[in-house]
Amino acid sequence: MGCKSFDQIVDRRNTQCVKWDGATEVFGKEDLLPMWVADMDFCPPQAVVEAVKARAAHGIYGYEIKPASLHEAVLNWLKTRHNWVVDPSWLSYSPGVVSGLATAILALTEPGDRIVIQPPVYPPFFAVGDQNDRVIVENPLIEENGRYTMNLPELEEIFRSGVKFFVLCSPHNPVGRVWTRSELLALAELFVKYEVTVLSDEIWSDLVFPGHKHTPLASLSPEIADRVITFMAPSKTFNLAGLYLSDVIIPNQGLRDRFTNQMERTAQVHLNVFAPVAAEAAYREGQEWLGELLTYLTENVAFLKSELAKITSKIRVVQSEGTFVVWLDCRELDIPAEELNKFFVEKAGIALNDGAMFGSAGVGFQRMNIGCPRSVIKDAVERIAKALQDHK
Ligand SMILES: Cc1ncc(COP(=O)(O)O)c(C=O)c1O
Repeated sequence: MGCKSFDQIVDRRNTQCVKWDGATEVFGKEDLLPMWVADMDFCPPQAVVEAVKARAAHGIYGYEIKPASLHEAVLNWLKTRHNWVVDPSWLSYSPGVVSGLATAILALTEPGDRIVIQPPVYPPFFAVGDQNDRVIVENPLIEENGRYTMNLPELEEIFRSGVKFFVLCSPHNPVGRVWTRSELLALAELFVKYEVTVLSDEIWSDLVFPGHKHTPLASLSPEIADRVITFMAPSKTFNLAGLYLSDVIIPNQGLRDRFTNQMERTAQVHLNVFAPVAAEAAYREGQEWLGELLTYLTENVAFLKSELAKITSKIRVVQSEGTFVVWLDCRELDIPAEELNKFFVEKAGIALNDGAMFGSAGVGFQRMNIGCPRSVIKDAVERIAKALQDHK
């Protein structure tokens, strides 16, 4: 199965994929339109498919070294795409961003240490703290007229109370903000002033819509770089999440040594054979495909917004500056917040992520994945229209 365009429906059922094959178990209903877990229903760039096929054709899949050519491709991507010159010694890999975050938390913090996050935010940010007996401190984002900003005065109070660790989501899942350079500079000033160590999850850094620009936090100044561990990956960008490879960038040698030691202690030293070839092909040859993807996703957001507006004014699409997840404000629907997800699943037949999963700041919202052919969005809106009619 290959893909000719982003409009093409590729049947992913019976491929053991979480999004389609796992939906029944998670939502308790068959035949849902799955618009939840964050991977896309698109094939990656053809160069990636060819590279994986060529590696598969070799027929022997023994232990791998990490190829220097991958390193070079990642460094080149960071420089050309993000204007960030990274020293080769700063870059390493982890099997995923979440595993990297957990490793960094174990390496740098102690049980009972407090870690700040900014909800509504990607649920594993809560879990990696909770599961490792760290204390999560919330610094919720502020929502005003469908746009989110950070609450820096409150954050400063938190740092003043002695908290030394922060997990940043940049760009932000689920609210779709691409933090501006000046927002990040103000944040960085607090990190430096209060000597805070930052885990910066920049997995969405390449999925930024026209008119917005991602700035790697650590690229702002040597002073801030010294206290940041950055996570990026080809997984969201090129739809390679199931290959498990992410990039970890740590300029400070002390932090790097502690991270590396923890990776070794937990025996996370190898990559699977297909990930490096896929990642390298994507970073070397995926630029044009990514440009086309971003155009398609931008139009998907606009399409969703205009189609929804035709059927109701009570579901608002929060302004999206990047990512392929869209944050839907459903607080005006006359459906109790705790029934909202059930309404979309059982009445409309669409699997969405309930906003409450992203923290209490997400109550009354739903997250929709629009990394799919436009016809799927059309189908989803029609299902919502019918469910709203029946609800009256
Ligand atoms: C902010 C954020 N970080 C990390 C991940 C997942 O990363 P990985 O699959 O590499 O663990 C996601 C997936 O949606 C995400 O949104």
